[in-house]
Amino acid sequence: MTHPLVAEAKALAPKFADRAAHWDKTRSYPWPNVQDMTDAGLMGMTIPTEYGGQGADYLTVVEVVEEIAKACTLSARIVVEANMGGISAVMAYGTDEQKSHCAPIVLAGDKPAICITEPEAGSAATEMQTTARKQGDTYILNGTKHWITGGGVSKLHLIFARVLDEQGHEQGIGGFVVHIDPANPPKGFEIAGREHTMGLCGMPEATLHFKDLEVHEKWLLQPPSGLRRGFADLMNAYNSQRVGAGTIAMGVAAGALDRAKTYLLERQQFGRPLAEFQGLQWMIADADIQVHAARLMLREAAKSSDPFPDIASAARAKLFASEIAIQVVNNSLQMFGARGYSDAEPLERMYRDVRMFTIGGGTAQILRTQVAGAALGIKTPQTRDGYDPKVEQIAAE
Ligand code: FAD
Ligand code: COA
Repeated sequence: MTHPLVAEAKALAPKFADRAAHWDKTRSYPWPNVQDMTDAGLMGMTIPTEYGGQGADYLTVVEVVEEIAKACTLSARIVVEANMGGISAVMAYGTDEQKSHCAPIVLAGDKPAICITEPEAGSAATEMQTTARKQGDTYILNGTKHWITGGGVSKLHLIFARVLDEQGHEQGIGGFVVHIDPANPPKGFEIAGREHTMGLCGMPEATLHFKDLEVHEKWLLQPPSGLRRGFADLMNAYNSQRVGAGTIAMGVAAGALDRAKTYLLERQQFGRPLAEFQGLQWMIADADIQVHAARLMLREAAKSSDPFPDIASAARAKLFASEIAIQVVNNSLQMFGARGYSDAEPLERMYRDVRMFTIGGGTAQILRTQVAGAALGIKTPQTRDGYDPKVEQIAAE
């Protein structure tokens, strides 16, 4: 039986498909879709019922995300970030005050921004330079994050920073929940610049500067392993977002394949429907198998969550889905001939959109390393000695 939330997503899909080209061409955020998804209960559906959400599990979320992604990649990214990643970290590691504060904001349509990447720390996220130094009951944040999805539209931000005590000794990498009004950010929080991206054009990818930004200590998340090992806990929560990202890629691929199948049955050449040519049938068969396999891996990862998918399940599923999606969308475009290369069809946009998923959220190379580590049963630190806060003095008085 179809879950009611999945039925809601299916009902929204045709409308979202009609609007998708508009957000791409105008590079604008799909606010009307956000309103529709809020009304349908898709924003914050994983938030527990005691905080006003529906306590939906990740299996339901990935089924919803697939339906939305078939129609509008941008909107699917919003659903993922309103249910996985940052908000999941808050719901798992937050204090009651943090959860009570964040839940209504997401349920009203906010997609929290997750702020990890920096100009000099991309894959090497453990080399981040942003610091949060304790001063009384406040932390003072300094640093720059870039490629922040939703920077400039999101209200909630989960900012990863090296946490320093009053003497400047590092305690570990922590996550701060920072609520801002993007139209009127506080002193010390600057939304600077926006990338000009190949696809996913309606989503701002922003640079954020923090200059002596004051954040009360009550907004620091409390991961179970404590600050020193808290980075691993935060990344564990982030594994849910990787499964979400893989699902978007798979959903786009499934949407492209559906369109190609319809076209092959309609378009005639050599006096026959294209669907009768074996060369194209085999392209359809390969794509069908690839999408099917990716869907199974993603659902397996979602189902195994306890409370999050483990590092290897998430890496394996996101890596496989993002790579097959590029091939499937590319081959679907090919089956449309010249028409696929034009904006008469959504395939060219889907191709530009789907290209991102082997990069953002952990590159294919980084994820392969994580799968290899799990397969071999060894640790695979990429930093020379592995990340381990040595409680060293970073910022001397
Ligand atoms: P680099 O780390 O410089 O990597 C360059 C190349 O080297 C890649 O091919 C990489 O795979 C390879 N490489 C690096 N290290 C290794 C290694 N050890 N072994 C093998 N190969 C390696 N970040 C956020 O914090 N929040 C966001 O919301 C966010 N959204 C994004 C949205 C988009 C559209 C994109 C494109 C990125 C987003 N990112 C975000 C950033 C993203 O997570 C980083 O781009 C990613 O982690 C890679 O970092 P980098 O781009 O600096 O590449
Ligand atoms: N899930 C759970 N734990 C994770 C994890 C994940 N996805 N990624 C790393 N960890 C844990 C490691 O197991 C390790 O814990 P341990 O010391 O107890 O063994 C700790 O975090 C540090 O990871 P390690 O791989 O030793 O450190 P590194 O300095 O080589 O850093 C990463 C590598 C984690 C930064 C890199 O693998 C990575 O994921 N880069 C991509 C960052 C990303 O996805 N950015 C997206 C921004 S939106």
